[in-house]
Formats: sequence, C-alpha cells, structure tokens
Amino acid sequence: MLYEGKTKIVEIRGDEAIVRFKNDITAGDGAKHDIFEGKGSICAELTAITMGYLNRQSIPTHFLDFYPPNTLKVVALRMFPLEVVVRFVKTGSFIRRYGGVEGESFSRPVVEFFIKDDARHDPMVCINHLETLGIASKEQAREMSDTAIRAAELLRGFFQRAGFDLWDIKFEFGLDGNGNVIIGDEISPDTCRLRRKEEIFDKDVYRHDIADPIERYKEVLEACRSIVSQ
Ligand code: TMP
Ligand code: ASP
Repeated sequence: MLYEGKTKIVEIRGDEAIVRFKNDITAGDGAKHDIFEGKGSICAELTAITMGYLNRQSIPTHFLDFYPPNTLKVVALRMFPLEVVVRFVKTGSFIRRYGGVEGESFSRPVVEFFIKDDARHDPMVCINHLETLGIASKEQAREMSDTAIRAAELLRGFFQRAGFDLWDIKFEFGLDGNGNVIIGDEISPDTCRLRRKEEIFDKDVYRHDIADPIERYKEVLEACRSIVSQ
C-alpha cells in the first residue's frame, strides 16, 4: 500500500512502514510549491535525530531506523487527521487570530488542535469537539495534548543545546496496532519554528521568500548532528 503526500511517500509493510522524504516544499495549503535538491534527505535525517531523541526520553514516536539519504523505517500508524501545535512564543497564525507582539513568550506552553483538511484550510478545532466529530476519544485527545507538551519541552531543550530557540512545533499522532497513541509524521524545520537571534532557520524562510531554505536547514542539521555525537 503506497500513499503519496505533498512531501513524503509512505509504503505500509504489515506493522511497519517505509517513509521516503521528497525534495518538495509547500506552503499555504499547497498553493506555493517548489523542489529543492537535498531537502528530503535533510528533513529525513532531522526527523531521525529528533525522534530518536524523544524515543530515548520515553516519548514514543514511530521512528525505528534511518536509511540514508532520505528514508525512514517507522511503526505503521493509523493517523488521526490532526495537527497538534505547541507554542512557546507568539507568532504565525496565533497573531493572525488573536493579535499580540511577534516573539513574545507565553508564561506556559499553549496547545492548539487543527483538523488536516486543505480544502477548509486546516480549521482549528476545540479539543472538546474531537469526540463529537468522531476524530478521537476524550482520553486520546488528552493524551495527545499532554504528550505534545512534554515532547515540545524536551525538543526545546534539545534545540537550545544546538543553538536555536524553538518557538513552536507541530506534531501528528497515530495509533499503533495495540491502540497506543504515538507521535508520527516528521519533525524538521518544515514543522517547527527555529530562531537564532533575528535569524530564521525554518520554513518561514520559504513562506516569506527570505532566503534559500536549504542553506538554513543544513545549518540546523549540522548543529543537531554535532550535539548527538557528543
Ligand atoms: P502556525 O502559526 O502557522 O499555525 O504554525 C504553527 C506551527 O505549526 C509552526 O511551527 C509551523 C507548523 N505548521 C506545520 O507544520 N504545518 C502546517 O500546515 C501549519 C499551518 C503549521
Ligand atoms: N503545510 C501547509 C502546506 O504545505 C502549510 C504551511 O506549512 O505553511 O501547504
């Protein structure tokens, strides 16, 4: 069974899956689309590094193995059609929705759920509606929220050691064969915001045509490689 998304190709093989990262990058629900040589391998390796780190910290992710340059072996999950965002800092759609000052920190992390539906521009959803909509039980929703916060806090420390501030991050979750709620998809500069002083090292450089994303993403990869090899 082969599924092709905007940036990855997933092949299910029993209770495992093979994920190949493409060189495609998109923004605005696919309205903006480009291909950058080397992008797939950078995001695959960063997913392997960050999810390997979370696995070692007892936060279960689907990551099992990295086959360079751009392929991961993962646990096959039945995905919730959700994006779970954890924010440490005001930016992006939070400011568009509620106003506020770019870069201002929250006193505690903020969690938001969005339904993955490009046609509806990924509408934000109230955690209490997930059961009514038949998307997730109350317990599963609570577990996704708690796990997302713990994972985001661990990764914030991880990226801090690599020299970057993690402003916000998006997770996707699925169920494994035993019904456990597990982090799936990817963790890369495509799925979070990473800053060093004023400089942007995440997909905002592409969304806002600021710089060559590959140069910035490579810097993140090299910094993360160096902290895991210490
Ligand atoms: P937002 O401020 O645009 O809602 O984004 C919040 C975080 O989620 C940011 O780190 C980027 C990430 N994100 C995705 O990974 N995929 C998406 O489709 C969107 C909208 C955001
Ligand atoms: N992930 C969405 C897209 O690829 C939107 C974004 O990340 O800005 O279109």
